[in-house]
Amino acid sequence: SIYPVVLCGGSGSRLWPMSRGGYPKQYLKLTGETSLLQQTVLRLKNLNQAAAPILISHEEQRFLVAEQVRKIGIVPDTIVLEPAGRNTAPAVAIAALLVTAKDPDGLLLVMPSDHVIRKDNVFASLVDEAAEVAGLGKLVTFGIKPTSPQTGYGYILRGEGLGPANAYKVQSFVEKPDLATAERFLGDGRYYWNSGMFMLKASVYLSELRRLNPDMLLKAELSLERSMRDGDFTRLNKEAFLGCPSDSIDYAVMEKTTEAAVIEAADLGWSDIGSWDALADIGSKDAAGNTVIGDVLTDRVSSSYIRAEHRMVAAIGVDNIVIVETADAILVAHKDKVQDVKKMVERLNASG
Ligand code: GDD
Ligand code: MG
Repeated sequence: SIYPVVLCGGSGSRLWPMSRGGYPKQYLKLTGETSLLQQTVLRLKNLNQAAAPILISHEEQRFLVAEQVRKIGIVPDTIVLEPAGRNTAPAVAIAALLVTAKDPDGLLLVMPSDHVIRKDNVFASLVDEAAEVAGLGKLVTFGIKPTSPQTGYGYILRGEGLGPANAYKVQSFVEKPDLATAERFLGDGRYYWNSGMFMLKASVYLSELRRLNPDMLLKAELSLERSMRDGDFTRLNKEAFLGCPSDSIDYAVMEKTTEAAVIEAADLGWSDIGSWDALADIGSKDAAGNTVIGDVLTDRVSSSYIRAEHRMVAAIGVDNIVIVETADAILVAHKDKVQDVKKMVERLNASG
């Protein structure tokens, strides 16, 4: 059976000032009536053979997670609460341990909660294909055809075919390359973006982690052994989990394993909601290429994203700009510089 695992403990700092420490982007209604997390969980309903989802989040976000899944009528298998973020590799380890305990051959479908997928039916059939390949012991990634030299993604070089259509061995996986490298990968034509979703046998992930980062696996095991079940919540043991090294699944496992595979995920309508330019790309636009949300007035403005949450925003004679107005903070940035919102947030946090 397929066990969906929804990762929702990240902070999403590049979508400041809407995304905040206590209210990160996955819980925001950025693209419509439901949050990205709710869309992710609802998407799982279309799958052919999936168990109830395991959600993994941060202790401080427990009310947000529980409330958001309740509102859409989903009963999770459990909501795992991390006492502090240790990035995605330990989170996936916890899920893999939970699953192997009841189903030694169980497959994990790892889902980030910061994406939009427009074609849910395409997604369901890709998941079936991925399950077939993961059943062979492969760690399966979903590859997206790149359209720009994004430095915030992992890049996958496909190798020889694996039998099932659209499935290939991964020749190399490079997480978050610098711009020059990303431009070379884009020009090469043989690379995919890593969508951040994975299909893998829980037992294979655990054996790869045991080989690549035994200390991480040990601390994850300990924090789960000593965890406490509290209704829907599984509270990881604080001391053990705080001692766990922090790393993403991409750096800790995918870059290093020889067992990676990629399924070409064409026509998925995938888009990562990592930063404001991504929301500008997928939003509906006026004749001048602007996406405006809320009470906004423009005059000779083009290719911009302007969002007013509380007050009216007026803009005159500007292009390629992002303006996000909230009750207590306003972001004004050039569209090409929105990746640096993260650095600004780090400065803010440092200054208390
Ligand atoms: N539980 C938990 N704990 N979840 C976390 C943590 C954590 O410590 N850190 C991040 N997450 C969640 C985020 O909420 C998000 O849904 C997902 O895990 C992925 O984390 P990101 O921090 O958003 O990763 P990324 O966007 O930098 O990179 C990943 O996604 C890209 C595509 O969007 C990588 O997989 C890249 O290779 C990929 O291209
Ligand atoms: Mg992300």
